[in-house]
Amino acid sequence: MTFENLQVDIENRIATVRIDRPKKLNALNRETIEELHQAFKALLSDEDTAVVILTGSGEKAFVAGADISEFSDYSVKEGKDLAAKGQETVFDYISNFPKPVIAAVNGFALGGGLELAMSAHFRVASDNAKLGLPETSLGVIPGYGGTQRLPQLVGKGRAMEMIMTAGMIDATTAKDYGLVNHVTTIEELLPLAHKLAGKILNNSMVAISSAIAAVNDNYKDGVNGFDTEIENFGTSFGTDDFKEGTQAFLNKRKANFK
Ligand code: COA
Repeated sequence: MTFENLQVDIENRIATVRIDRPKKLNALNRETIEELHQAFKALLSDEDTAVVILTGSGEKAFVAGADISEFSDYSVKEGKDLAAKGQETVFDYISNFPKPVIAAVNGFALGGGLELAMSAHFRVASDNAKLGLPETSLGVIPGYGGTQRLPQLVGKGRAMEMIMTAGMIDATTAKDYGLVNHVTTIEELLPLAHKLAGKILNNSMVAISSAIAAVNDNYKDGVNGFDTEIENFGTSFGTDDFKEGTQAFLNKRKANFK
């Protein structure tokens, strides 16, 4: 896969998607948003990819937000379209991606950058990471899901404070808030993400996809996540992975999922 603003490498069933505009602190311009959509679409059908790690190029930024230079003269309609298209093609797409997506936050994750990290299934961060939603300092509000996903992850009060103050929190605070699961050095960040991906790879990908859908349904209007869980739990019993997993346990051997 070749892109202008992304690097995608696939090794040992783990795809690393690296946003690669370091001179602009990996800010998400229109082209990068489109490329992210294309990359994830391709990874969805790529049989060599089971887990995705999302990170930024360089040691300074994961993503410093949407590209401010592109939308500074947008109209009301253009602003609405920007948010709607981005949410549909990238942020919701990643959040509902049936393969696990881990964000490795390697520096600034601001605005659309934090929203991108929050669309991943979970996050790890380097100790130099700074996270925030500074949109209100620009006279806008978060448009890629930040007003919804931040309160889900850190609670309403903390999210309100972060959005209203437009301030940044450091990696330790982000861990304390539950916004990132682990903090490590910049050198150890990708090895840690790979280690976690490796643990995931031991398990049934069919079951994991099913669990992602059930967990996400808790956050969807008009959908009962408990019902999804019952349905998907039942469906598991008809899968080869269930037979393999249970037989392996009963025969005291390691499961070998296809
Ligand atoms: N959109 C467009 N360009 C951006 C950008 C963004 N969100 N974030 C950084 N850049 C560009 C800068 O304009 C600069 O480009 P230049 O060298 O051509 O002037 C380059 O990236 C480096 O950024 P700079 O501001 O010089 O780095 P810094 O270390 O002084 O500050 C930040 C780092 C992250 C604090 C600062 O870049 C910043 O506040 N960025 C915007 C964050 C934001 O508001 N994001 C939400 C957008 S909705």
